[in-house]
Amino acid sequence: MGITKIAPSVLAADFANLQRDIEMINNSQADWFHIDIMDGVFVPNISFGMPVLKAIQKHATKPLDVHLMIVDPDRYIKTFVELGAEIITVHYEACTHLHRTLQLIKSYGVKAGIALNPHTNIELLKNVLTETDLVCLMSVNPGFGGQSFIENTYSKITALRQMATEQQTDLLIEIDGGVSNKNANQLIDAGANVLVAGSYIFGASNPVETVKNLKEQLL
Ligand code: DX5
Ligand code: ZN
Repeated sequence: MGITKIAPSVLAADFANLQRDIEMINNSQADWFHIDIMDGVFVPNISFGMPVLKAIQKHATKPLDVHLMIVDPDRYIKTFVELGAEIITVHYEACTHLHRTLQLIKSYGVKAGIALNPHTNIELLKNVLTETDLVCLMSVNPGFGGQSFIENTYSKITALRQMATEQQTDLLIEIDGGVSNKNANQLIDAGANVLVAGSYIFGASNPVETVKNLKEQLL
């Protein structure tokens, strides 16, 4: 499955010191920047939008993994591509024509991801899995950082990895919400290969060291 990717969630950064925090992640062993876009409609919170993403992109030296928690995401795919997204993930629950949305994302040459809320069954992805580069399994209800991990995520990972193997597709399985050194190994053993972590990394006294230790414990 290859080396696990670590994607710090910028939602947990210090927004008054965004350049400093972006550079800190540039200088760490982290693989991607996870960018949470919330519209206050799909989720009960508003994070930040295009001007802030543009500022992040100016300093970031690693791929931008954009997680869209917005209704009708098709309207903004092109804009997020122009803002430098390398992975664009939309919510299953927010897309009426998910296959069309995936095709649209891929038409711009970026990776297409689907996020599933904790209650959404992975079986619903069966008919689009080979069109999908990444599945983001939400291990909290989306909208806020710092929530506790939902334990049924492990069985969803195992079943999704099995489905991907059956369909002979090389899927990235990303876990988002409540990830830390406590559950990281079990998530990877179940079949995940990308871990998003917000409060665990940015809340640490030494985030660079925290990323390094997380990487090492997964080797
Ligand atoms: C939640 C977001 C997450 C969040 C994770 O809606 O999608 O990416 O930032 O935060 P932690 O790691 O603190 O649970
Ligand atoms: Zn996220």
